[in-house]
Amino acid sequence: MNTPTPTTFPLLHRSRRLRGNPLLRQMVRETRISPSALVYPLFIREGRGIREEIPSMPGQFRYSPDTLLPELEKLSKIGVERVLLFGLPAKKDEYGSSAWDKHGVVQTALQTAKKEFPNLFYMTDVCLCEYTSHGHCGMLSGDTVDNDRTIPWLAKTALSHVRAGADLVAPSDMMDGRVLAIRETLDANGFSDIPILSYAVKYASAFYGPFREAADSAPAFGDRKTYQMDYHNRREGVKKASQDLEQGADLIMVKPALSYLDVVHEIAAAFPVPVAAYSVSGEYSMIKAAAHAGWLDEDSMVCETAASIFRAGASILITYYARELAGFIREGRIG
Ligand code: PBG
Repeated sequence: MNTPTPTTFPLLHRSRRLRGNPLLRQMVRETRISPSALVYPLFIREGRGIREEIPSMPGQFRYSPDTLLPELEKLSKIGVERVLLFGLPAKKDEYGSSAWDKHGVVQTALQTAKKEFPNLFYMTDVCLCEYTSHGHCGMLSGDTVDNDRTIPWLAKTALSHVRAGADLVAPSDMMDGRVLAIRETLDANGFSDIPILSYAVKYASAFYGPFREAADSAPAFGDRKTYQMDYHNRREGVKKASQDLEQGADLIMVKPALSYLDVVHEIAAAFPVPVAAYSVSGEYSMIKAAAHAGWLDEDSMVCETAASIFRAGASILITYYARELAGFIREGRIG
């Protein structure tokens, strides 16, 4: 048997030519990441002088409105200038009424934060689950989450956030028709310039586990599958995004991010609007836990996963790793 002769044909296409030099690799990158595309979620709880670490999310804290201020200063210095606020009230009730209280926790935090740091951009999560005693995202009629009864209260909550200084509202409750109600309410009260980022494509996901510990918002009975999306579905996400855009949403969110990159890609291709992906609590905790065990390199994981979300088509990334990412971008490690 003859031994094969080495190939002698001229190799015209060498992919490795573009990989040989780090400056060249950076130049030919297809995905650019800037700190201006990052949003940092913050949990605000009632009280004073509180900065407590969330056990399932090491490195993330619940702040009272006063301890939030130094944190905002640090964020602003490192170039993370956009935040998403979640409120953890002292008292919950059946209706979630502290959600729209003008002296509520988000409203109070917003008023002081806007005064101290008017240069930052304040977004708020609009939902009732952190405020209801039963932990569901809307009001109940018997054991069902009552869509139409909930809508006006979500609109009222959004309005109270904007009155307190929110620059953008992000409804995450998944009730049908809430975007239109919020748009109409904001417009009728002179806030037609405030954009709505709709959590339009939000799946019923186990990845929210650590958040629910952080916000003490796990549903007391049942689950959220009657209002959040079934993870088997992608085309339904397109329908949902198109409905919310028709109702006046300005930006669309896909959530979670990592297991839903196909959905991010599809939504970004289908609609000419900014698409935000929310890399949720469980995505953060998974990386933290693996890094803590010494199984994965945390920094590399943070860079690679963030790049994958932008590569899929997201133009905004909401992430608990925003601070670290801003640093990696500055160092030229990604971006
Ligand atoms: C409120 C809300 C949730 C998250 C964002 N807004 C929890 C949920 O729907 O159960 C999850 C965020 C995260 O896990 O980081 N409805």
